Amino acid sequence: MTRIQLTDSGPTFSRIVAGVMRLHEWGMDTSALRAFIAECLDLGITTFDHADIYGSYTCEELFGRALAAEPSLRNRIELVTKCGIQLVSPNRPATRVHHYDTSRDHIIASAERSLRNLHTDTLDLLLVHRPDPLMDADEVAEALVALRRSGKIRHAGVSNFTPRQFELLQSRLDFPLVTNQIELSPLYLAPLHDGTLDQLQQWRVPPMVWSPVAGGRLFNADDERARRVREALEAVGREVGAPVGGVALAWLLRHPARVLPVMGTGKIERLREAVMAESIALDRQQWFIIWEASAGREVP
Ligand SMILES: NC(=O)c1ccc[n+]([C@@H]2O[C@H](COP(=O)([O-])OP(=O)(O)OC[C@H]3O[C@@H](n4cnc5c(N)ncnc54)[C@H](OP(=O)(O)O)[C@@H]3O)[C@@H](O)[C@H]2O)c1
Repeated sequence: MTRIQLTDSGPTFSRIVAGVMRLHEWGMDTSALRAFIAECLDLGITTFDHADIYGSYTCEELFGRALAAEPSLRNRIELVTKCGIQLVSPNRPATRVHHYDTSRDHIIASAERSLRNLHTDTLDLLLVHRPDPLMDADEVAEALVALRRSGKIRHAGVSNFTPRQFELLQSRLDFPLVTNQIELSPLYLAPLHDGTLDQLQQWRVPPMVWSPVAGGRLFNADDERARRVREALEAVGREVGAPVGGVALAWLLRHPARVLPVMGTGKIERLREAVMAESIALDRQQWFIIWEASAGREVP
């Protein structure tokens, strides 16, 4: 599978990333998870996307147990995690309200906790999970600089940032933010038109893309829009000889910003299908047939 370097000095990731937000639902014990990671590696998927909060603060630790059981895995994978959201959870009794915390102390403490949970001494990439209305860009920058300097993180990036928020934080750093992890799918078109992908293309920062099959809604939602998009994906799929999921991925990969889809499935055959999508070439008309089905109108 293709590997993509995120900016000139950034990390190199597998084009398809395995997201583990739903890991706590997959019913895998440590040995099943080790087998899953090994199967991902066989497919060329080496990058794993975490956040401190996944599984109500449990997923990193589950994954970390697999890395502790088989330490040789660590050097064969890239670990991404996120910080900055505070969930109300039995695992965080002091949190009274779902909120964001991008203070220096929280970012550093969260990254250090992720290191412990994941049984590693460095994170390949730490993302600020959501734009915080109280974000003090100087303070966030200070935390990211300190974490990089101490070797606790190799690279930094953001998630769900608007172009202005991205530019604000970047203006305080002398190293590049290597990605903005954003939602994009045939059922979520906003970043194509709100300047998000334009900015990333301008700065040659490849986006990581979450919910690339709309969290499964592409396959099972029965509202009118989802049905329309599914029919378009099926029709294009008949032309190119690919299943709905493969066409959806090919549609994302067609974007010149060089998208890295972060897949949320725990099923290896679905990851195999995602990897195959790299070989599906959609022409412009096929791409726009899917866009039109989603937008519910022609382009102007
Ligand atoms: N930065 C952020 O704010 C943010 C937000 C959300 C997620 N993320 C990251 O993005 C990753 C992916 O998000 P996601 O899980 O929403 O992505 P997704 O890949 O769009 O959705 C995964 C869901 O779709 C189902 N699915 C996949 N293929 C299917 C098929 N052919 N038929 C029926 N169902 C199918 C999966 O079920 P099965 O497991 O049964 O295949 C799973 O429940 C997460 O793991 C996380 O790492 C980041």
